[in-house]
Amino acid sequence: MASDAAAPEQVINRLAQLKRELEQHNHSYYVLDLPTITDGEWDRLFHELLALEMQHPELLTQDSPTQRVGGKPLDAFDEVTHRVPMLSLGNAFSDGDIENFDRRCREGLDLGDAEIEYACEPKFDGLAISLTYVRGVFVQGATRGDGAVGEGVTENLKTIRSIPLVLPEQCRQALLEVRGEVLMLRRDFDKLNDRQVAKNEKLFVNPRNAAAGSLRQLDSKLTAARPLTFFAYGIGAVEGAAVPSTHSALMDWLESMRFPVARQRSIVQGVAGLRDFYQRIGQARAALPYDIDGVVYKVNRFDQQQTLGFVSRAPRFAIAHKFPAEEATTVLLGIDVQVGRTGAITPVARLQPVFVGGTTVSNATLHNEEEIRRKDLRIGDTVVVRRAGDVIPEVATVIIEKRPANSLAFVMPTRCPECDSAIVKLEGEVIARCTGGLICPAQRKQALLHYAQRRAVDIEGLGDKLVEQLVDADVVHTPADLYRLGITALSNLERMAEKSATNLLASIEKSKRTTLPKFLFGLGIRQIGETTAKDLAKHFGNLDAIMDASVEQLLEVHDVGPVVAQSIRQFFDEPHNREVVEQLRACKVTWPEVQIEHGRASQGENAPVGNADADLDPFNGKTFVLTGTLEAMSRDEAKDRLEALSAKVSGSVSKKTDFVIAGAEAGSKLDRAVELGVAVLDEAEFLALLAQR
Ligand code: IVH
Repeated sequence: MASDAAAPEQVINRLAQLKRELEQHNHSYYVLDLPTITDGEWDRLFHELLALEMQHPELLTQDSPTQRVGGKPLDAFDEVTHRVPMLSLGNAFSDGDIENFDRRCREGLDLGDAEIEYACEPKFDGLAISLTYVRGVFVQGATRGDGAVGEGVTENLKTIRSIPLVLPEQCRQALLEVRGEVLMLRRDFDKLNDRQVAKNEKLFVNPRNAAAGSLRQLDSKLTAARPLTFFAYGIGAVEGAAVPSTHSALMDWLESMRFPVARQRSIVQGVAGLRDFYQRIGQARAALPYDIDGVVYKVNRFDQQQTLGFVSRAPRFAIAHKFPAEEATTVLLGIDVQVGRTGAITPVARLQPVFVGGTTVSNATLHNEEEIRRKDLRIGDTVVVRRAGDVIPEVATVIIEKRPANSLAFVMPTRCPECDSAIVKLEGEVIARCTGGLICPAQRKQALLHYAQRRAVDIEGLGDKLVEQLVDADVVHTPADLYRLGITALSNLERMAEKSATNLLASIEKSKRTTLPKFLFGLGIRQIGETTAKDLAKHFGNLDAIMDASVEQLLEVHDVGPVVAQSIRQFFDEPHNREVVEQLRACKVTWPEVQIEHGRASQGENAPVGNADADLDPFNGKTFVLTGTLEAMSRDEAKDRLEALSAKVSGSVSKKTDFVIAGAEAGSKLDRAVELGVAVLDEAEFLALLAQR
């Protein structure tokens, strides 16, 4: 019940304190990504505020955190005339365009050959909005509209937790308009689409569309249920405050007022600096938590901006350097399946060729059957194809409206297209596998290549093409068959000159003298990387002991867990595999005796040595840094997987880091990687790399 009595001073004070604290915690959580209290504690403060406001409705103000939950639905949005028009940017697509932009700026400023200082930042792929603060309180928010007049979406914007409802006390200028972009983080977009699937509702095509649809709801309660966020990139009108003299200082100023701003912003000199920034952000693009469609360069000094002025509706002092589009629509012509070395069956989309992410794409991985079902893909569908950075192209979503009447559902084959063996899916596994083992030509080819690689027994000259020919001609079935090849069989192969045949035979012969770890690794036992192979060799000393070891005995080996132990046991329980090992020994593949070493394998000796092959191998001897949250596995698991592949995992980014794996909400390590130009992989890229092993 509301009380009629005037609120005592202590209620007024408590209310002000709660509002201040809640907004501070909000900022820590939504802008800084550094939660300062537990969710429970936050709820307690929030409900205390709610209760006080109900008791004293006269004290309820528009800037209260309780006003973020959405209000009554509107009939229509108000028209809002922008005090300062919201302009757009000119676009650049090539180095030449950027050189011209820089030249025009230098000429406009009469600078001759002197370099201009530019502020660079990402170009957010969302919706432009303007936020009006009067004496530090958020009073109105509007979309860009036609640049002069936009739509008043104040209530909807209030639901966005990263937009401050009130500015810190020292920032109570008479008027401040903040310009920026509303968008949806990728992880929030994925969660939203998961919810849409669960509710049997339509999927959003991309974060931008989801953000646009969410912001333009007449019912702000609907917007409140959508995870939107905001980044500031400039200002409009200001009254009663001294504005900094450069764009970079302006961004720092906005940040100090608790507005979220891009972390990836840089001050650079001249055209070389612009080019470098474009490269760096291009590399980090796929790992950023949100979509960007380019970068924006702005002459840093405001006095220079003013001199340059505007041309028609765009500034002369700024330009957007666009990235190649990452998404395109095309038609799903069919779904084939591919068989990997360990029999994993991967469905592959055959697409009508389409130009996306800078190349023509005609195939895209569909990962597994589950994924096809989740995305509700049918052959004949029009689909959105995405190729972000160097990531393997993937089918992002289907455009259901365009589904033809004769579309076909995908059915996972029950028999392997390569060898006709049964395809099975073990309980609890998402991956279907061909049971053919080395009978399956696809697996056989992969197994032979694995056996012959430099890090295994090292047969120089035995590459993809040759293996393909040898298997297709039915000359080689197992690695042991390689040692039975003669000059005649090889010379019969197409495009095989006698000299190459002789050379190949010599390297096959040479590969007979190997080491136990290399031989073990070469057998291609699932989960056994070079490091584990070395550990096994040192622990057991000889091959027979490993082949006969029980799971319990295997578990005694350094870093061997139940999954790895099972995998080794299963491999050697298979008579066919034992037979291949025997044949290889019969062909005189040998290795020097290994000194048994129990306990922890010494790192120094085990550390992989760099060689030409290691440079090609994305894992062996490479240093990785993990940052952010991975969805598919825990950090520890990722570390284990990397170490099993002979990679090093380090806690901090330096020039020596080869790759940074950036999961969701990656923080300062990602920034550091971008700064140092270290290659950044997002989770999808990392998984794609792992899947090749
Ligand atoms: S500055 C005077 N900076 O790109 C123009 N715009 O085509 C001021 N955008 O509508 C814009 N990220 O919505 C600027 N870092 C950024 C941006 C950015 C995205 C959008 C903005 C604008 C469009 C310009």
